[in-house]
Amino acid sequence: MRSFLFIPADSPKKLDKGMGSGADALILDLEDSISNERKDVARKAALEFLQNAAKEKTRPRLLVRINGFVTGLTDADLDVIVAGKPDAVMFPKAEGGASIVHLDAKLTAREAIAGVAEGHIKIVAQNVESAAGLFLAGTLRGSSARLIGCTWGPEDLSAELGAETNRTADDALTEPYRFARSVCLFGAAAAQVPAIETVYIDFRNLDGLRRDTGEARRDGFTGRLAIHPAQVPVINEVFTPTHEQIAHAQAIVDAFAAQKGAGAVGIDGKMYDRPHLVRAQALLARTR
Ligand code: COA
Ligand code: MG
Repeated sequence: MRSFLFIPADSPKKLDKGMGSGADALILDLEDSISNERKDVARKAALEFLQNAAKEKTRPRLLVRINGFVTGLTDADLDVIVAGKPDAVMFPKAEGGASIVHLDAKLTAREAIAGVAEGHIKIVAQNVESAAGLFLAGTLRGSSARLIGCTWGPEDLSAELGAETNRTADDALTEPYRFARSVCLFGAAAAQVPAIETVYIDFRNLDGLRRDTGEARRDGFTGRLAIHPAQVPVINEVFTPTHEQIAHAQAIVDAFAAQKGAGAVGIDGKMYDRPHLVRAQALLARTR
């Protein structure tokens, strides 16, 4: 999945718009874009939307962002939305593998009550958006078969640090957030799940988004969160492998297949060994 579009779950108009946005996934938000007074309205709207979307032949993947454990609202969110069989929940302020195990258990109980197949609802963790979560990013590995992605959050982190900003005047991340972004990448790689780049909040600046997303792809992220429909085509384009990239990856896979037992192959005067093969296979898997 390349693009994940956040939509405040209490906005039917934006939910409809999201369905036609071209996003690979929609995230129905119950957390930060919903005021406390509107949480219940948003939960019910999310459930209704999920139930109607289930009738559609083709639809984006549907995620619900629940409220984190410290809010005390998580159980009430799950009590409503699990019956809508979302493809996944997005788990904000996740704190390492133990919190994933905890959420997995909460989902299992509710899936049983709602008659949803056990394990149907996957988890995308926002596991590097608090200092505690950052230090535990290496503990996600093996926590739950539900875990299908990791992401991070500079806005929450800068609020926690008391920082004045997280970007310089020329739009580069400042040091603490470059570090957090890297921790997210390494944690995701250790857990063997995709790393998903965080939001780009300057949603009118599509050139900035394109540049920043190109850097994300370069460093190993395979998708990105969006907050506005205009961001979706840019994100999809950047994360769609080009014909040249696909052909090159196929050539590497084919060369290894043609030389059974070879540890390294040569193509057009360049050496390719196991890490190149792994990368080529991963790129081809993403295009399928
Ligand atoms: N999903 C679906 N539709 C959206 C959308 C979104 N995230 N953001 C905007 N739209 C719609 C608007 O409703 C508007 O529709 P219309 O043309 O039918 O009136 C159209 O896209 C253009 O919107 P625009 O006027 O450019 O922006 P806005 O001022 O209405 O909204 C935000 C700006 C930031 C409030 C809005 O983009 C938003 O709600 N984003 C998501 C916020 C969120 O979920 N945050 C939590 C994660 S960090
Ligand atoms: Mg957050």
